[in-house]
Amino acid sequence: GSGLHAKFVAKGKQFWGSCADSALLNKPSNVAILRSDFGQVTPENSMKWDSLQPNRGTFNFGNADTLVNWAVSNGKLIRGHTLVWHSQLPGWVQGINDRSTLTSVINTHIATAAGRWAGKIHAVSHWDVVNECLNEDGTMRQSVFFNVLGESFVTLAFQAARAADSTAKLYINDYNLDYNNAKTQGIVALTRRVNANGKLIDGIGTQMHLEAGGVTGVLAALTALAGADVDVAITELDIKGAASNDYVTVVRACLQTPRCLAITTWGVSDVDSWRASNTPLLFDSNYRPKAAYNAVISAL
Ligand code: XIL
Repeated sequence: GSGLHAKFVAKGKQFWGSCADSALLNKPSNVAILRSDFGQVTPENSMKWDSLQPNRGTFNFGNADTLVNWAVSNGKLIRGHTLVWHSQLPGWVQGINDRSTLTSVINTHIATAAGRWAGKIHAVSHWDVVNECLNEDGTMRQSVFFNVLGESFVTLAFQAARAADSTAKLYINDYNLDYNNAKTQGIVALTRRVNANGKLIDGIGTQMHLEAGGVTGVLAALTALAGADVDVAITELDIKGAASNDYVTVVRACLQTPRCLAITTWGVSDVDSWRASNTPLLFDSNYRPKAAYNAVISAL
């Protein structure tokens, strides 16, 4: 094949993916590009806690199932996103203030969500188990999870995910890991602490919501993350006002880092991006490949 995913895989990598969800799967132009250029889909919103379990014990799987069924029938891998995150988290979870209730709620949520698609998010596919748990200085972020359970919620979540799906690769994911800064060192240290008594975290996801010119530290960052002795994935790449070189720099950095396995761009067309005004993606508002797309293809 000649698309992004096929060329990236030919370089020894696992996949190049995009976020999607049911609305984008109803746009024929978007779907045609997902088919030709992308090998993996990440649910943009449908597997978040507020979508899956808006009220305690009430699970809504419809939109997430749509995404998973589309992926399976189109031969695409899946990155599950995301099980434990302080954002897009319903109020009923945020209000829990005792350890035993929160432990039970986390275990039930993960067992039910990760259990539902076990075997579909398979072998080389990933789950973002814990999302955005760090502050910029590398310390743990305040959240209901940290405030009630301390750092142990990370281990709890990974243990629950492993029990629910023994074949998915389990990732910890965060943003602003774009150079070798305190947050990058913090996630490396946290990963080492969690993995000290047996490997629970298989990989670190670096979201990479970047800006033009903000890519000079990416190779050093990927190298530092791989220093935690786990795999690394670029999970939500988009670049505000990107020049072709910005994208090429990120792709080359992943190619040069053996443990950088995968890239996911956070959408196909600029028109559907969560940062639409920043025109951060590889296809323009008319679903035509941009210069950056052609530059990436040439670099692969
Ligand atoms: C974003 C989605 O793209 C938006 O549609 C939604 O309104 C907010 O969330 N970090 C993450 C992603 O881990 O889940 C976020 O996705 C972008 C930031």
